[in-house]
Amino acid sequence: HYTWNDFTSPTFKENPFPAWEDLRTTEPLYRFPVTEGQYAWMVTRYEDAQAILKDQRFIKNRMTLLSEEEKAQIDRSSPTLKLLSYNMLAADAPDHSRLRRLVSKTFTPRMIEGLRNRIQQITNDLLDQAQERGEMNLINDFAFPLPVTVICEMLGIPAEDRQQFRKWSNAILDQSGPFDADRQAPPEVEEFTNYVRQLIATKSEHPDDGLVSQLVRVEEDGDRLSENELISMIFLLIVAGHETTVNLIASGMLALLQHPDQLRLLQDNPSLIVPAIEELLRYTAPVIIGTGRWASEDIELHDTLIPKGDMVLVSLMGANTDPAHFAAPADLDITREENEHIAFGKGIHFCLGAPLARLEGQVAISTLLRRLPDLHLQGDAQELKWRPGLILRGLQELPVAF
Ligand code: HEM
Repeated sequence: HYTWNDFTSPTFKENPFPAWEDLRTTEPLYRFPVTEGQYAWMVTRYEDAQAILKDQRFIKNRMTLLSEEEKAQIDRSSPTLKLLSYNMLAADAPDHSRLRRLVSKTFTPRMIEGLRNRIQQITNDLLDQAQERGEMNLINDFAFPLPVTVICEMLGIPAEDRQQFRKWSNAILDQSGPFDADRQAPPEVEEFTNYVRQLIATKSEHPDDGLVSQLVRVEEDGDRLSENELISMIFLLIVAGHETTVNLIASGMLALLQHPDQLRLLQDNPSLIVPAIEELLRYTAPVIIGTGRWASEDIELHDTLIPKGDMVLVSLMGANTDPAHFAAPADLDITREENEHIAFGKGIHFCLGAPLARLEGQVAISTLLRRLPDLHLQGDAQELKWRPGLILRGLQELPVAF
């Protein structure tokens, strides 16, 4: 009987494979308590996960299901948290497509390919700094600064501010409580929003060619983007732009170190980096559980009725380790063919940043292997600590030597 606390605990994150196997086999639609009197459903099979992510009866914006009184209650109890939810990831059609269209051109594979040289340069600079020391914390010194510097440059935000983002977004994402809008917001939410407001004011006065300035212009131009949506969009891009890729790079490197045959195969065949990153996305689960969806009507699944208004969580890692879809799913196989993992989700909310995350992962890991061929863990893998929280799976620290 898995509880909310189990799914968010560091021990579970360390080895979630057995729990997914158990749930897929015994309770593919699992109902578990979240808080007193509140519960959520979880699906863990590949087919169910796909079906729910593509089914628009499972919605993101719970507000549309609430009474006026319930909405007012949320406005009163956590106005800042609500402010951060006016983004595409929390929206349904037609708002979702309007918001996504405003930024989708910036994230196409072609536009992202244009950043390759810059990503390589940032990667080289970070490794230059670490190389002389002979050791580093792979997260603080590499896997975190790389994606955060890239997204800051795309947005037009000073990269020096990145330590602040890290504190804010970790605090917001690592919370172990239920994540719907009526819980209390941590103080970091307020600090983050104040920062974004200030940023918008600066870009309004001194525009540049970064994405924040472009969005500020759209907001000032007319009715395509409200101020709340602008704040919320910037929040989403900053958080989504680094919180997941850091885990792909760090957990991906750890997985390779723990599978020396696969590591050697990749070192001997650098062109395998493309399928290797797909396999690391599948196997390491940077997003372990997708975000929630809400049933907008009564919906039947596995002969069970999911009542209107209930929350359904999709385990992306459960789906990606389903033997019905992947041969030997617990094996790391960087040559896996037809790797149709759903680590980036599925349907209308499919990850906007997938081309960027893929490129960053490919450049980061192949450069690490080329420049630090004898890189190894410092200390015991059993001692590594995983971060808490429901959505992501990632390490606190990853000490390595070379
Ligand atoms: C959405 C995973 C990197 C921006 C998503 C979703 C997943 C995901 C699973 C869908 C969530 C859902 O359906 O509720 C990942 C992983 C990444 C990654 C595993 C890295 C390894 C990035 C990057 C960006 C980004 C670098 C850059 C800005 C977004 C945005 C959405 C999204 C904006 C919302 C899309 C929408 O609602 O239409 N991501 N992501 N992600 N991701 Fe990523």
